[in-house]
Amino acid sequence: MSQPSNLQNIVCENGQLLVPDRPVIPYIEGDGIGAEVMSAAQKVVDAAVERAYSSRRKIEWMEVYAGQKAEKITGSSLPEETINTFKRCHVGLKGPLNTPVGEGARSLNVALRKELDLYANFRPVKYYPPAPSPLLHPERVNAVLFRENTEDVYAGVEFESGSDAARSLLEYLKTNSPHNYARIRFPETSALGLKPVSREGSTRIIRSAIEYALSNNRQSVTLLHKGNIMKFTEGGFMKWGYDLAETEFASQTYSMRKHKKLVAEKGDAQAKSALKSAREEGKLIVKDMIVDAAFERAIAHPEDMDVLVTTNLNGDYLSDALAALVGGLGIAPGANINYTTGDAVFEAVHGTAPDIAGKDMANPCSLILSSMLMLRYLGWHEAADLIEKSLGSTLAGRNLTPDFACQMDNAVQCSTTQFTSLLIQSM
Ligand code: NAI
Repeated sequence: MSQPSNLQNIVCENGQLLVPDRPVIPYIEGDGIGAEVMSAAQKVVDAAVERAYSSRRKIEWMEVYAGQKAEKITGSSLPEETINTFKRCHVGLKGPLNTPVGEGARSLNVALRKELDLYANFRPVKYYPPAPSPLLHPERVNAVLFRENTEDVYAGVEFESGSDAARSLLEYLKTNSPHNYARIRFPETSALGLKPVSREGSTRIIRSAIEYALSNNRQSVTLLHKGNIMKFTEGGFMKWGYDLAETEFASQTYSMRKHKKLVAEKGDAQAKSALKSAREEGKLIVKDMIVDAAFERAIAHPEDMDVLVTTNLNGDYLSDALAALVGGLGIAPGANINYTTGDAVFEAVHGTAPDIAGKDMANPCSLILSSMLMLRYLGWHEAADLIEKSLGSTLAGRNLTPDFACQMDNAVQCSTTQFTSLLIQSM
């Protein structure tokens, strides 16, 4: 894990990454199919960088340990050295990690996000034909989901049913907030959980989504929430989102909250004309939607889904549902990012697939596309374009790993290794 002295790390200054030509990129191979998909992704990245920049640029991969391999080598499943290396190098790649089952066992993925404060889970959802999709027109899907990663019921602030802590919290509510206490249907046996959603936490993820939308010429950002039921937490997320758009991004965005006020004050026609002008000026539309309606919308009218931003639990469900529209987790890329420190871990979003591990059957597309996103994050767009284009043409040639091939007519089934070679050949 020691780093040769002639190699340079990425530096982050005021949220801007300074990327040397030979950046050190730490990677966690991952458990199960991790070794197979990581090897595929690295080969593809190396070939693309070589083709795009000859010997001028090169990724210097540096293995760091987590999961079962780390346990074997260091005795810890997430050694301090791994976290420190990610902090020092800023950008890394990660294969899937087993989550040990049982009380007290922590998810390594969650631990890594927490240690690095990777508050934005970035999940683009785009269709690469002929990936199997339940939609009639999957080519209409081109959404980007930002899921808040650090708050919400996911914070894990929970109190076991019947515990002293649960009892004192219930007692506190009974005395100080009797109307809330009265809402708890079975107080004697209730386990309790808190749902912290802060203005800071909401604002920073919504800012990331708006900045992404502005710099990628997107049409809209939708604040997805359940504020009709959870007024202060989910409702707060929506309110702080609009507050941000109307202050920090006032000149670049058109707020649908303001639009509704305009309708009430000046009538429909004037509001419609304001919206039309905003569109003509290329302003980003900031709107909101109740999250369950978004699930319906994503299936019935996927073309309406543009940049989406939501709280942690909503985002957890929605990200996998959106991935299913374009072929599932085998091809869905993702990253966890802190846009302030620049720290970012690009990852396969599927699990360790123990049923096919070691069989050269895994679909490497998720980690390959995540690596492509990583190259874009570094500003190496020429190499990223090469990967995206050749992945598209390899899939279009219907050379597919078994998970895709078995769902399709006229497919040529190939192994992980064969798929990777074909992809590199087509660059
Ligand atoms: P899984 O994603 O590993 O597998 C679910 C099904 O999808 C299996 O049939 C598997 O063969 C298939 N599959 C997954 N990835 C594939 C790929 N790239 N190519 C072809 N087929 C693929 O989910 P499961 O079984 O629930 O979890 C297994 C382990 O992975 C657990 O320990 C879980 O905690 C962990 N996990 C880790 C994640 C991460 O590190 N980000 C995410 C999800 C699960």
